[in-house]
Amino acid sequence: MESRCPVALDPLGADIHAEGSRIRAQGPVARIELPGGVKAWSVTGHAAAREVLSDHRFSKDGRRHFDAYVDGTVGEDFPLIGWVLMENMTTAYGADHTRLRKPCAHAFTPRRVEALRPAVEAITTELLDELAALPAGEPVDLKGLFAHPLPARAICDLFGVPAEARAEMLRGGEVNVDTSISPEEAAANVARWHQEMLDFVDSKRRSPGDDLTSDLVAAQQADSSLLSDDELVGTLHIMLATGTEPVKNLIANAVLALLTHPEQLALVRSGEATWQDVIQETLRVEAPVAHLPFRFPVEDVEIGGVTIPKGEPVLVNYAAIGRDPEVHGADADRFDITRANKESLSFGHAIYRCIGQPLALLEAEIALAALFERFPHLGLAVPAESIAPQGTFIMNGVAELPVLLDARPTTMKAAVVPEVGATWELRDVPVPQPGPGQVLIRVRASGLCHNDLWLTDGHFPFPEFDPVVVGHEAAGDVVAVGPGVTHRKVGDRVGATWVQGTCGTCDYCRLNLPLTGQSGMNCAAPVMSGLTVPGHHAEYVTVLADSTVLLPDEVSYVQAAPVLCAGYTSWSALRAADPKPHERVAVLGIGGLGHLALQFSRACGFDTVAITRSPDKHDLARELGAATVVANGAELAAAGGADVILVTGTSYEAATDALQGLRPNGRLVLATIDPEGSFSIGPTSPVWAQRQQIIGATHNGLEQLTEALRLVAEGKVDPIVEVFPKERIAEAVALAAKGEVRFRAVVTY
Ligand code: HEM
Ligand SMILES: [Zn+2]
Ligand SMILES: [Zn+2]
Repeated sequence: MESRCPVALDPLGADIHAEGSRIRAQGPVARIELPGGVKAWSVTGHAAAREVLSDHRFSKDGRRHFDAYVDGTVGEDFPLIGWVLMENMTTAYGADHTRLRKPCAHAFTPRRVEALRPAVEAITTELLDELAALPAGEPVDLKGLFAHPLPARAICDLFGVPAEARAEMLRGGEVNVDTSISPEEAAANVARWHQEMLDFVDSKRRSPGDDLTSDLVAAQQADSSLLSDDELVGTLHIMLATGTEPVKNLIANAVLALLTHPEQLALVRSGEATWQDVIQETLRVEAPVAHLPFRFPVEDVEIGGVTIPKGEPVLVNYAAIGRDPEVHGADADRFDITRANKESLSFGHAIYRCIGQPLALLEAEIALAALFERFPHLGLAVPAESIAPQGTFIMNGVAELPVLLDARPTTMKAAVVPEVGATWELRDVPVPQPGPGQVLIRVRASGLCHNDLWLTDGHFPFPEFDPVVVGHEAAGDVVAVGPGVTHRKVGDRVGATWVQGTCGTCDYCRLNLPLTGQSGMNCAAPVMSGLTVPGHHAEYVTVLADSTVLLPDEVSYVQAAPVLCAGYTSWSALRAADPKPHERVAVLGIGGLGHLALQFSRACGFDTVAITRSPDKHDLARELGAATVVANGAELAAAGGADVILVTGTSYEAATDALQGLRPNGRLVLATIDPEGSFSIGPTSPVWAQRQQIIGATHNGLEQLTEALRLVAEGKVDPIVEVFPKERIAEAVALAAKGEVRFRAVVTY
């Protein structure tokens, strides 16, 4: 059972969302405790919050309606006393609220705000220029150097705050939302801030300017009943503070969300989503104002199934409301700019609704668009988990946002084959950049194929590029796309394979056949990973986008890697044999390919036979799908033969032997290379009279690779792998060369 003990709000705001869910578990309106032990209420439900925000029985005037303040139980030592004593529209009720809101509201209508666009753009450009002038490669606090000064300069310009006074006057607002400070510090801040603002108003009385402060001063002089001196000061407090604090959090929260969800940023870049989508979704999942104190019912009010007694403080928990599962479903916590309903109450609702919304939206859009255009390779300078929260429950944001303006790595670890026959070495090499038609993949897992070993030991011509990096079974994420790439985007989970592309002009290319392993062997100038261009055993690799496949969500990188060559080959072999439903399929060799071929055959419901000379593999072969296990062709014949024999081992001699067990009309598929032995049909063989076929098969087209991945996604096939971190690459290669890996070595990068 959930505890009904009131949640005490953490003054450090260490995890506002976890706290919000704990409160929500107690109901949409629940008791909480404020610093100083003051009992209060938190509204976390969207529907309940709408009711509270539009119910005229809630006052924001604590001086009149906070019973514990009125009767003296709560006083100067209440850490949030500043939010009670301040006199402005946010702490007013009824006619006072209307009176105090009116003189400011007219300055922030959408039309007036649109006229500010050039000014906001100019500030943004100036700040981006300042950032660009900083020493390259150093982490930068984007909150302090961009998200904060942008709205701060804009609001100070509007209110005519002189440059030299800005930092101090804005600090008052910053400290005012800091709930981690002591009551003494809070009181000192209120006093200092109040005095600064009085001096500022005086200066405007003496020499008015063309600014909103001078307008307020003039309006007060024309009609002294409009607002008192304290109210004028309080209004300036709220305008400067709200003009800055929430906007900087909106900008910083949006940047953080995009940098941690690059696939969403890619949607904006490709035009599939807009900056307003980003802003609305950020407002919902990371409401910049978590709570804005306070509301007090002027009588007992029943909402959300509870009665809130008259005079007790109520906090509308905007941070929790945006994540209300009743409105946004089970994945309400997920940042998803494509979700249809991004509704939130993050600007409030009804009569106290934010008057700065049009300005905030304008500033955020200009800021985000310009920032990501100027610094397209922006990235976090530290892991997202290590970014500290702001230290308050009033605002929802980070203390600092350390970024690198150009976060592209310049070097990477790659498994280099120094020369023919040499041991592989992990070395630092330059990160490649994607050219036309290419994507840059951050490789997460890369399988070790037998061909990698043959390239190393000289069975195949040693690659001519430098340094030599081989491999053609990479699974990872697209992190950059080159010019002209339209169907892959940053954030895609992809697999890359052996043949990337062809020359497009040779005789073979003129046949216009699809991209297959055959293309690699016949085109005059094919692009082949690890053979003609650098391979996949590295942290990053560029490949032609057209040769990649999207990985199903259910398939991990490690599971996917061996499918990209071994699985692709064995599935293509089975498809090439075109078995009929009643036929029997034999798999020769239980290794990297064979263990997958057995599973593919069983997944399709074929009566499956394993042919292996290793008695220790019999049990496993049965587990993987073999109904029958035999040692060779003679035993296969004795067991009734097979309609299809898939040769997945690297001995053509064993394939020749297996032919004895091929039934009439049977097909033997050669899917592998034997660099030494040869396949032969003996002079007395009845192959001709049995109308048998010997079929060659290789990677048979990306649609077949996709079929193989789908069987893995459905859980019908599961590659058996040994995983090696990249630091153990030499060991992985040595073990694979000795045939001691079951069944595929997958290296993680
Ligand atoms: C992303 C930025 C902003 C957010 C999320 C935000 C949020 C809010 C919220 C939630 C309220 C209602 C508080 C309540 O009744 O509980 C509010 C009120 C207010 N906001 Fe904003 N605000 C933002 C930007 C601004 C800006 C730029 C200004 C000034 C130009 C501003 C000025 C005000 C004022 C004066 C009120 C009080 C309205 C009243 O009490 O009638 N806000 N804001
Ligand atoms: Zn391979
Ligand atoms: Zn060609």
